[in-house]
Amino acid sequence: MDPQGKGAAPSLLFVCLGNICRSPAAEGVMRSVVDNAGITDYVQIDSAGTGDWHIGHLADPRMRKAASARGYDLVHKARQIQVQDFERFSLIITMDQSNYKNVSKLAPSESAVLRIKSFTSYCTRHKISEVPDPYYGSAKDFDHVLDILEDGCQGILQDILNPLNKQIGPK
Ligand code: 4NP
Repeated sequence: MDPQGKGAAPSLLFVCLGNICRSPAAEGVMRSVVDNAGITDYVQIDSAGTGDWHIGHLADPRMRKAASARGYDLVHKARQIQVQDFERFSLIITMDQSNYKNVSKLAPSESAVLRIKSFTSYCTRHKISEVPDPYYGSAKDFDHVLDILEDGCQGILQDILNPLNKQIGPK
């Protein structure tokens, strides 16, 4: 493990609000992306929420259905992010600006804040600044989130495969 991000195996924590829609789906998509790249054992992947309402729950059934239709099996059970996650993960990747703000408040140091990245900064096809919260939306909104997640997870893979792509400082 290389919590400071100095070059060893990357460990990724995806974070949203409830940890039942966006971040468990990001975790599932990223697992598939690293499996397909043949680097499963090299990358640690997990997800968490800033809130505590859904601790222990599987991903929302609407997200599981949309993910399953694309071949992703979401098995994560929701948990809340803890300050110890900054020791366990080299990158903490947030879905929206509110998540970013809340995770930043939890960061134990300024250097830890630099390891919090916005998910959409890895997107190349979607020119957006947040992954929209689909919780009060329709099936179409859940599908749209998956489009965004597939885009950004490819960008994350490129950063892992080519360290020269990595940017210094907040993304
Ligand atoms: P997520 O979506 O942050 O993508 O998991 C939400 C899940 C639950 C709630 C809000 C957003 N909620 O208000 O309970």
